[in-house]
Amino acid sequence: MTAFRVPVFAANWKMNKSAADVEPFFTSFNSAFGKISGCEVIVAPQSVHLGKLAPLASKLGVQTSAQNAGPAASGAFTGEVSPVAFKELGCAWTLVGHSERRHVFGEKEDLLLKRVVAATEAGLKILFCVGETLDERRAGKTISVVESQLSLLTKLPDALSAKVWGPVVIAYEPVWAIGTGENATPAQAQEVHAQIRAWIARQKGAQAAHSIRILYGGSVKADNAGELMKQPDLDGLLVGGASLEANTFAEIIKKGLTSRL
Ligand code: PGA
Repeated sequence: MTAFRVPVFAANWKMNKSAADVEPFFTSFNSAFGKISGCEVIVAPQSVHLGKLAPLASKLGVQTSAQNAGPAASGAFTGEVSPVAFKELGCAWTLVGHSERRHVFGEKEDLLLKRVVAATEAGLKILFCVGETLDERRAGKTISVVESQLSLLTKLPDALSAKVWGPVVIAYEPVWAIGTGENATPAQAQEVHAQIRAWIARQKGAQAAHSIRILYGGSVKADNAGELMKQPDLDGLLVGGASLEANTFAEIIKKGLTSRL
């Protein structure tokens, strides 16, 4: 069934933590979890902390991600950080399309597409976030919204398409569940994940649908991680608030992994 899809647990620290918090986090994470095995673990800190964080993370086998990488390799983009710079700092990944980028900063598909292209050209892998608002869910539009967000990945230049699709990880994060304490139920998450996988099958074929990891995000905590991860189409978790504390994040990963045994 799902056993061959290596689970991914990603921590999105958003605009939290100071430089002084970085080393204690990894010391605690190491005591609580140790070196990573049986899954992939990714941490996305504020970009200014990456120089300090990446070597500590990599000692434990933890990968690093940008939260938001610029839409070109270089140029007049005040306030943005080039994907090339993220790569130089040891990042393997970048988030694209996080709900806060879409809804707080108003990022639309044309900009997100440029971010995907520039990041891929720089050698970063894409963690692509999708999800509906509460109004969209109430209006019965969840899957049409998610599919329309996913359709960006069908608009890539031919030369880049395979580079994006090979390693891409999709994160389903209902906007109404992010930072609210109200997670999607395991059944609600599974329903959308299965539909995302069916959409991938229609666009890219059965093999891609079978191998692409789909994470759930939105108020993941230690006490719901296990039930969520029991769902057959959930291949990991994208964790915001609960990832800020190393012991809690380690517990989420352990519960997620145990529930799949
Ligand atoms: P949350 O955030 O876990 O705090 O709800 C998830 C996210 O935004 O990725």
